[in-house]
Amino acid sequence: MLVRILVTGACGQIGSELVPLLRERYGKDNVIASDIVVEKLKMLSEPYEVINVLDREKLEKVIKEYDIDIIYHLAAILSAKGEENPQLCYQVNINGTYNVLEAARVGGVEKVIIPSSIAVFGPETPDNPGEITILKPRTMYGISKVFAELAGEYYYHKYGLDVRGLRFPGIISWKTPPGGGTTDYAVEVFYAAIEKGHYTYFVREDTTLPMMYMPDALKALIQLMEADNSRLRYRFYNVSGMSFSARELTEVIKKFIPYFTVEYKPDERQKIADSWPSRLDDTAAREDWDWKPDWDLERMAKDMIENLSKKLRKRV
Ligand SMILES: NC(=O)c1ccc[n+]([C@@H]2O[C@H](COP(=O)([O-])OP(=O)(O)OC[C@H]3O[C@@H](n4cnc5c(N)ncnc54)[C@H](O)[C@@H]3O)[C@@H](O)[C@H]2O)c1
Repeated sequence: MLVRILVTGACGQIGSELVPLLRERYGKDNVIASDIVVEKLKMLSEPYEVINVLDREKLEKVIKEYDIDIIYHLAAILSAKGEENPQLCYQVNINGTYNVLEAARVGGVEKVIIPSSIAVFGPETPDNPGEITILKPRTMYGISKVFAELAGEYYYHKYGLDVRGLRFPGIISWKTPPGGGTTDYAVEVFYAAIEKGHYTYFVREDTTLPMMYMPDALKALIQLMEADNSRLRYRFYNVSGMSFSARELTEVIKKFIPYFTVEYKPDERQKIADSWPSRLDDTAAREDWDWKPDWDLERMAKDMIENLSKKLRKRV
């Protein structure tokens, strides 16, 4: 099956790993990377296009030119950055997503995959929520993700555009740094442990959030995209990998780096973390498209430390 895939926001934490994987699977020339940062696009190599998702004309032009079948829409302003600049978050995440859906509809695209987030939940959401639950987020990022989910469902039912998505927890990875989310501490802590032997968390030690290691996130993005539509009960699925507190993360890192020390100095991001559930129920994903994570906390930490110490050329 020959498919042409366009990835928006391709130079970010997820895109920079997803693009090479999609190229391996579908052929290099069939996966078009796009972003606003041209230097980073060059690093991902051709084919690429500079696309600001606020520019619908450019989106439509590229979709037509490459005869795009599938869009992975990853361009976004993440939760913590979004609270620093809610106006930009609104523009990029809401208007940008609307532009992608419209351009996809007009251009005859078959599928659009949009990562959603645990940020759709809010303080009123019960812990361990399923797909159908209370969605009353307290951040502009969360609001924009609720919009993406509802608009995605709308385009599916109204226009037959096959929109699918995943409610991702915090994503942990070593290849590309995270882009300004509330769960960034779970990545920063590894850099700090290896480089300085010390880390100051911006959350309390009992802060417990769902997380996922990048290989699982990439697997979920491809598995959901390829899933048989007749099996899907929802357009947006919860996916979960592991769930741990900052204290538990510290203890696991200490198994590999015994001299590692930490402090906990919560800042404004604590409020965002407190508004999210500590775990989420991904039974539907397991039943409908055979989702199963491969990584747990200890294996992930070992792999992160091995790969990051090689990358940073630092022995621990
Ligand atoms: N990383 C996580 O922990 C996480 C968790 C849940 C959901 N998600 C979602 O996954 C998707 C990808 O996240 P990520 O972590 O790779 O984000 P990121 O911040 O690392 O990357 C986002 C990319 O979007 C680009 N971008 C910003 N504004 C743009 C615009 N106007 N037009 C085009 N591109 C623009 C940026 O240059 C960047 O390369 C997002 O939708 C995000 O909300 C991520």
